[in-house]
Amino acid sequence: MPSTEAPPGAKRWVPPHPQSIEELKSAAADCHGCELYEDATQTVFGRGAPRARMVFVGEQPGDVEDQRGLPFVGPAGRLLREAVDDAGIDPGDLYITNSVKHFRFELRGRRRVHQTPGPAHIASCRPWLVAEFALLQPELVVLLGATAGKALIGPSFRVTQQRGRLMPWPASAQHPEDFPVAQIQALATIHPSAVLRADDRDTAYRGLVDDLKVAAAAIAN
Ligand code: URA
Ligand code: SF4
Repeated sequence: MPSTEAPPGAKRWVPPHPQSIEELKSAAADCHGCELYEDATQTVFGRGAPRARMVFVGEQPGDVEDQRGLPFVGPAGRLLREAVDDAGIDPGDLYITNSVKHFRFELRGRRRVHQTPGPAHIASCRPWLVAEFALLQPELVVLLGATAGKALIGPSFRVTQQRGRLMPWPASAQHPEDFPVAQIQALATIHPSAVLRADDRDTAYRGLVDDLKVAAAAIAN
């Protein structure tokens, strides 16, 4: 039966003074901040350069990521790497993570069908994102799709309206106090999975690359 109680949230599992992403990642492996850990295979933490200038934030791990324990290693990840390359972003400048760190799905027969995480999952998992930002101190955050926008800006975020332009962040968040991190810039774009689902894939892909070029230009110096 679905519980109506708010989940406890990840905060109590986040170490108070983490020294490295590895330390956060191993603490997150035990997180029971919401119910998603119960059915998923494992926590899928972020990964990338320890001094990344850009942090990419997706939605949640997919089926492949859940099994391999790494973010963006399935079809959406392949497309994202290609787009990063076409936008002229150095992959060595990147760290990639998700708004929610366990795979949410529904079983249909033997198939695990992706389910979009809800506001309670996003809120429960936010302490991990905050801890990642606090450690990495990037210059720019790239929000991939609606869930990342809702997690880092707020529920009124609309990717169609806010994509492709630089925003001050966390100043532009509805509750900037949720993010006790340095002021940087944010850029929203569509999720690579939306490109894979689009009727006109070429146009959707070009749109993603054009947005990522704005991110590339923002950190070029
Ligand atoms: N989609 C996401 O948002 N994140 C992943 O890690 C994989 C697919
Ligand atoms: Fe913890 Fe996030 Fe997993 Fe929920 S989804 S159990 S808050 S790591």
